[in-house]
Amino acid sequence: MAFNKICYIVALGFLLPFSYAHTDFFTSIGHMTDLINTEKDLVVSLKDYIKAEESKLEQIKKWAEKLDQLTDTATKDPEGFLGHPVNAFKLMKRLNTEWGELENLVLKDMSDGFISNMTIQRQFFPNDEDQTGAAKALLRLQDTYNLDTDTLSRGNLPDPEHQRANGNMKYFEYIMAKEKEANKSSTESEDQAEKETEVKKKDYLPERRKYEMLCRGEGLKMTPRRQKRLFCRYYDGNRNPRYILGPVKQEDEWDKPRIVRFLDIISDEEIETVKELAKPRLSRATVHDPETGKLTTAHYRVSKSAWLSGYESPVVSRINTRIQDLTGLDVSTAEELQVANYGVGGQYEPHFDFARKDEPDAFKELGTGNRIATWLFYMSDVSAGGATVFPEVGASVWPKKGTAVFWYNLFPSGEGDYSTRHAACPVLVGNKWVSNKWLHERGQEFRRPCTLSELE
Ligand code: OGA
Ligand code: FE2
Repeated sequence: MAFNKICYIVALGFLLPFSYAHTDFFTSIGHMTDLINTEKDLVVSLKDYIKAEESKLEQIKKWAEKLDQLTDTATKDPEGFLGHPVNAFKLMKRLNTEWGELENLVLKDMSDGFISNMTIQRQFFPNDEDQTGAAKALLRLQDTYNLDTDTLSRGNLPDPEHQRANGNMKYFEYIMAKEKEANKSSTESEDQAEKETEVKKKDYLPERRKYEMLCRGEGLKMTPRRQKRLFCRYYDGNRNPRYILGPVKQEDEWDKPRIVRFLDIISDEEIETVKELAKPRLSRATVHDPETGKLTTAHYRVSKSAWLSGYESPVVSRINTRIQDLTGLDVSTAEELQVANYGVGGQYEPHFDFARKDEPDAFKELGTGNRIATWLFYMSDVSAGGATVFPEVGASVWPKKGTAVFWYNLFPSGEGDYSTRHAACPVLVGNKWVSNKWLHERGQEFRRPCTLSELE
């Protein structure tokens, strides 16, 4: 662990004291590899500069040695020396032209190539924001994975604000209001309600603790009893013609909410294609600001993402069809395929994929209702960290290349299932690629009819 941390610090120390605008390097490993190449080019150019400077000094040295000898002989017997007409001529020539040439050589600037290279490359350097982002990522990693704090002084980098706190408050207040509505007839005083709000405010901490524990692989609520209810099977998509002869491997990851994992469900070639399509378009992932309803960046979601349409590549289209076949849900109303790449400390703190009642406008412009379900492909293995965890129920799902997980965010009634609250743990070592499909309500009316019960 200590070794990895030192590596991070060394790498960040090298890369970050420069400036470049609008890239958010720290959010994605994909773009940081470009920086390593840039730095390698600069080292080559720096070495060229050193060579040029050395050969210049070498020339000057030769001059000095030659002149040293000459002046030695001349000063020993100046008259005898000048008695030779060629010597007299050479003295004139040296002082009139050659010393001038030497002066020019001494003044010659050998750094041009290196400096102009530097000027060009500097445009692509990270800026202060990237440096701060990377430092915060280190702190996140230390916090989440209980890393030894000695190596890094926390005091200089305080980060007290939590952008999501407000959003969470709204959620808790909504729950409170709902409870209050239900208890209207009871004699609950205003004072009591206020006290409870205070308690709920603090409830955020336990969730954070739960989240961090699950990320470390602790606090998993996988009991033998639960384990017994989880099975694996070959699944043919409910006798889907495309899967009857070649069913796919499906494993239960959790019972409530039901989370299933499909194995060998996306090939390495498909993953490469999806990554290559996404790479040039990766940009900092955004979230819905509950205040303004607009998309914005937030430190609790640190990754880069891109959207791929089924129209632009047969591979994407084939993937969409696969999701439709295996979930039984209509993908024509789904959002496009989102590809995400998590870099140093990249994460997505606990959230719901569906819109809550207090944010009815979240998916309004799509006109396809709420996010009924989530399909998440793991497109890389992650050396350490990077799990998808469900703090409400104590479940964690570890990334495994070529697999995908699926869960419903809404009950058949259309009510949100709050047990699906989940997070993407910070990547500790390695690089995490996922892609996901958010399926929407419209089009599923007959595929997943509603029931009489609200919360089932
Ligand atoms: C998401 C999400 C989980 C992960 O993008 O909404 O929850 O493991 N991702 O990347
Ligand atoms: Fe999510």
